[in-house]
Amino acid sequence: MSLIEWSDQFALGVEWMDDTHREFVQMVQSLDSAGEDVFLAQYDAFIAHTEDHFQRENEIMQQTAFPPLHCHLSEHENVLNIMRDVRRMVVDEGRFDVGRVLVREMAPWFTNHAATMDNMLARFLQMQAEGQPVSPSDMPPACGAGCGHEHEAA
Ligand SMILES: [Fe+2]
Ligand SMILES: [Fe+2]
Repeated sequence: MSLIEWSDQFALGVEWMDDTHREFVQMVQSLDSAGEDVFLAQYDAFIAHTEDHFQRENEIMQQTAFPPLHCHLSEHENVLNIMRDVRRMVVDEGRFDVGRVLVREMAPWFTNHAATMDNMLARFLQMQAEGQPVSPSDMPPACGAGCGHEHEAA
């Protein structure tokens, strides 16, 4: 059984996000069965894709003043830092096993991220596109406990 497969449960209704997420899922799937001879090349492509993926979401959040911006931004940064740390372990120490653990962890991470932070962003963008006024009170004020960011007072 494959680690993760695209399904409508992941679709958020914002085309560019769904296209990117579909590619993300395909890359995780492919990495999960990649042999050591191709793992690093695929992993590097996955990091580059994820950098673009997160950068595009970050930019739109900044342009639209998405209320829980900082939590989503720091989540992206944390994940990329972990991916880069694991790359160093694969390259410097030959720890393909750690690389594989990271890939497997990406499946539940993505499932949760898409259903929460990305879902919230997609809803926000859809409300804006429909011309509905979006006030900060329509959105959670922050991510709740955990991101450690000091949120500005409203
Ligand atoms: Fe995303
Ligand atoms: Fe995201």
